[in-house]
Amino acid sequence: MTEVKPVGAATDNRPLLVFDSGVGGLSVLAEIRQTLPKAPIVYVADNGGFPYGTKTEAEIAARVPALLGRLAERYRPRLIVIACNTASTIALPGVRAALDLPIVGTVPAIKPAAERSTTRVMGVLGTDATVRQPYVDDLSRRFASDCLVLRHGSAALVQLAEASLRGEATPDAAYRDALAGLLDQSGGARMDTVVLACTHFPLVADRLAAIAPRPLIFVDGAKGIARRTVTLTASEQWPENTAPGIAIFTAPTEPTQGLRAALQNFGLEKIDWL
Ligand code: DGL
Repeated sequence: MTEVKPVGAATDNRPLLVFDSGVGGLSVLAEIRQTLPKAPIVYVADNGGFPYGTKTEAEIAARVPALLGRLAERYRPRLIVIACNTASTIALPGVRAALDLPIVGTVPAIKPAAERSTTRVMGVLGTDATVRQPYVDDLSRRFASDCLVLRHGSAALVQLAEASLRGEATPDAAYRDALAGLLDQSGGARMDTVVLACTHFPLVADRLAAIAPRPLIFVDGAKGIARRTVTLTASEQWPENTAPGIAIFTAPTEPTQGLRAALQNFGLEKIDWL
């Protein structure tokens, strides 16, 4: 039976809200836009709280649910994607308890990495806050118990990804240092797979691959998050004429021309501030 839409029925423009501390969540947004091209998008960069990776668990657990509560009230999203490993591994239970709508989180892609590693040595490259989470121990135990799982937190790589997205030049040596944090550990010489456990890092995966001393498999969770979002919105009707995506910043700073251009490339044509 085909559904008959009442004449004059209002279009449902409620968006998907994609959230990160900065531009990292754009790597997830790209996959979501591919799979759900008609979904209206509100992308939130909490630049007022950036970076998350050097904050304490208590700071993140307090900030993220409160902020998402305000955002949910203002934008009435159908679903929220926390496109940030740091926020998800620390604050996901708090957000789910506070909000009555579907929340998709981002967790380090250890399971798919374990499916691909031949040498059974993988690296988890994330923020300092993410790599020290018990969540990472738990994923390693459940999905990679026969692997050596090396970990390295790099705040520098987060800044490099932000700068690179704004169109600024970033030196090879800085990427080499980030990867050396894994390669130079005991067992690192056998590592064949690297989990990009921060959503900023897929934005610079080509730079990491280019300076790697040998071919490495880089794995991230963006495709899985997009699939989960599709499943959870299966019964939603999307508007025929989708409004341009909006980027929201939490601090009153003016984005550079380079950042504006990059946001446009991800379909975010309007900018606003919380
Ligand atoms: N993009 C974030 C993540 O996935 C965090 C970056 C930061 O703010 O330190 O962990």
